[in-house]
Amino acid sequence: MISVAIDGPAGAGKSTIAKLAAKRLNFIYVDTGALYRTLGLYGRRSKTDIYNGDELERLLNNSVVELKYIDSEQRVFLNGEDVSDDIRSSEMGAAASEISAIPRVREHLLGLQRDMAKRYNVIMDGRDIGTVVLPNADVKIFLTASPECRAKRRLSDLAAKGEAVDFDEVLQMIIKRDYQDSHRAIAPLKPADDSILIDTTELDLEQSADKIISVIIEKTGLKIK
Ligand code: DC
Repeated sequence: MISVAIDGPAGAGKSTIAKLAAKRLNFIYVDTGALYRTLGLYGRRSKTDIYNGDELERLLNNSVVELKYIDSEQRVFLNGEDVSDDIRSSEMGAAASEISAIPRVREHLLGLQRDMAKRYNVIMDGRDIGTVVLPNADVKIFLTASPECRAKRRLSDLAAKGEAVDFDEVLQMIIKRDYQDSHRAIAPLKPADDSILIDTTELDLEQSADKIISVIIEKTGLKIK
């Protein structure tokens, strides 16, 4: 099995680009942020105090999180309910960022992520895939773009979903999330030593996907039909 780890900050275009590249290579795309968002959603819905050890343990024990692929699209299920659309709001992004900083939560989701890489050729995106989840990944990419560029992209994503927010608000949110994700004690966002840095500020989607595909081919010798 071939595994490709793509890490990088929020809004660098990881999911869209990784999805496109996975489709072209016929790999499974695993969006690990969706797992943290799902637990974040469950925490909010159940009004769990995630900083209380017993309450957190109850939340983890009562949640069955599953990834399924329907028409090669990842769908995430929480106790049998498809929550893929509900987790996409910026509120759930914030809930995910909070819950993902708790070591017990990261440990809980490790097995599921590693299992996917054992069973399929994957392009897996997240924050700590190359450093923690799949330290032996065949290819490690750190995808980034300037905060302003990421804010612009996030703004149009949110607008497409009918969430109206202003540019400065999104930019501040991105800067705050970068700080939280890269300064947490466990599995902070940082490039793996052996990762290849790709900056997509000046690249469009197609160009970014092409770049990633050429890196994967170069590193793995993969032949595409
Ligand atoms: O990629 P995303 O915006 O869906 O991620 C939501 C949050 O989850 C983000 O703030 C950081 C966290 N996350 C993480 O800690 N580790 C991952 N592998 C993926 C996401």
